[in-house]
Amino acid sequence: MIILGGSASSDLAEKVAKEVGENVGRLEIKRFPDGDKYVRILDDVKGQDVAVIQSLYHKPDQHIYADLHIFELLMIVDTLRDLGAKTITVVAPYLAYARQDSRFYPGEALSSQVIARLLEDVGTTKFLTVDCHLHRLGDVAKIFKIPAQNLSAMPLLGKYALKTIHPKKPFVIGPDEEAEQWAATVAKELDAEHTVFQKKRVRKEGATESKVEITATEVDLKGRDAVFADDIISTGDTLAKATRICKKMGARRIYALCTHPVLADGALMRVKSAGIQKVIGTDTIPSIVSQVSVAPVIAAALKS
Ligand code: R5P
Repeated sequence: MIILGGSASSDLAEKVAKEVGENVGRLEIKRFPDGDKYVRILDDVKGQDVAVIQSLYHKPDQHIYADLHIFELLMIVDTLRDLGAKTITVVAPYLAYARQDSRFYPGEALSSQVIARLLEDVGTTKFLTVDCHLHRLGDVAKIFKIPAQNLSAMPLLGKYALKTIHPKKPFVIGPDEEAEQWAATVAKELDAEHTVFQKKRVRKEGATESKVEITATEVDLKGRDAVFADDIISTGDTLAKATRICKKMGARRIYALCTHPVLADGALMRVKSAGIQKVIGTDTIPSIVSQVSVAPVIAAALKS
């Protein structure tokens, strides 16, 4: 298998290749002076199984938006097909545009469908992602016609938390109902109980931002460490509100595990000043909290 890393995930691709026991393939990616991207595949891919790793993340504070990562990925896959690759597996550890998986107001674009169609149209034969945010549909396979699989970083995050923070009488919490699956997985790793809070998002028609209201489930956190498990920390608003509630409930220390540290708009500061001791994230989005690599999970899926 040839493993290629797009410019959003070259470090992660190196790690995956090492786990798989292959060298990472050679790509040349540069920009023309006007910003257009140039892509060249330097390996002979004819008749080969190729995996392309490119996380489709935004980093608004650094003016990085997924759109360019997406276009680069489409060019790579299209070229692989033209050059005769036998199979093309796209691994997008963070799948941007997944959250709009339903039409909440008439006339809205279903961005999750658009991205899936684009990837299929250029020649992707299989799609892999990690802890995908498709809350209404539940399964990434529902937006693709090709085989598509959602992997999870939560077992790795749970193991890492156990080793590094040694939580005392931990209670794992999903900040909203949709986080039940992640809280349950982390709780298993920590041999702990878990629960979920209830979250209501109120978005007025025409507004891009929504207001979050969190309601706690009655649990006894006195003297115990609370460990949040969620897929994304974006603005940190959800986590900050849930953290303040845990503090009022008497939690001793409060930690947060998340797969995708988007960390937009001062999120880290927001959650820390609410009382979070430590945030542990993965390298689906490179950031200062990306202490856990999803490479072993991706490598295992590619080998299977
Ligand atoms: C959504 O429901 C997700 O699971 C996260 O809880 C959400 O994306 C976090 O967003 P924010 O950090 O902006 O509150």
